[in-house]
Amino acid sequence: MNALQTRISGIGVVPVIKLNHPERDAVPLAQALIAGGVPVAEVTFRAAGAAVAIQAMRTNFPDMLVGAGTVLTTAQVDEAMAAGAQFIVTPGMDPDLVAYCQKVGIDVFPGCTTPTDYHTAYKLGLEVLKFFPAEQSGGLAKIKAMSAPFPMFKVMPTGGISLKNLADYIKNPVIAACGGSYMVTADLIDNGKWEEITALCRQSVEIVKAARNG
Ligand code: 3PG
Repeated sequence: MNALQTRISGIGVVPVIKLNHPERDAVPLAQALIAGGVPVAEVTFRAAGAAVAIQAMRTNFPDMLVGAGTVLTTAQVDEAMAAGAQFIVTPGMDPDLVAYCQKVGIDVFPGCTTPTDYHTAYKLGLEVLKFFPAEQSGGLAKIKAMSAPFPMFKVMPTGGISLKNLADYIKNPVIAACGGSYMVTADLIDNGKWEEITALCRQSVEIVKAARNG
């Protein structure tokens, strides 16, 4: 893993964020995540204004790691990078999009769940993959099965991760970090429940630490 991947893995959880009001919410949200020990965010392009949020977080919190999620096109890669995004997450495996990210020099974590996806990732020289949607695709059992023929990858499972199953995932050495929206739900963000977000982040970090030390 490179320096960025090692940092993400060290934090252990990546909040997957959809902001309906990026101008209003990006900065207090980033503050809440940092206060909870989670200075990383995947800001998804499934809401308009993702680039605005990325830029606001990067400008106000230069030490925070901010990536763009749900990236489907090269134009979105460009937009994310112009806003200061440090990594790209794509829901599926699009070899052309991955190659574009590699060409322009930004880390990319494509969503992979099948032997074909993994094989494509291998040919592209990737080391860390998003495993999405994790629970719906077979969860940890599938991740373990996939790591038999493909032991070279670390994965970031996302989709159905919560405080309940976080420890089980994190304990497995194949897992680089877990992604999820459970600590940044629409209800929490839209109602400005920043302290609750911080508390959920703290709980997540404790679970990661305990799982790794145990
Ligand atoms: C993602 O895009 O990574 C997922 O939508 C997040 O999944 P979750 O909402 O089940 O955590």
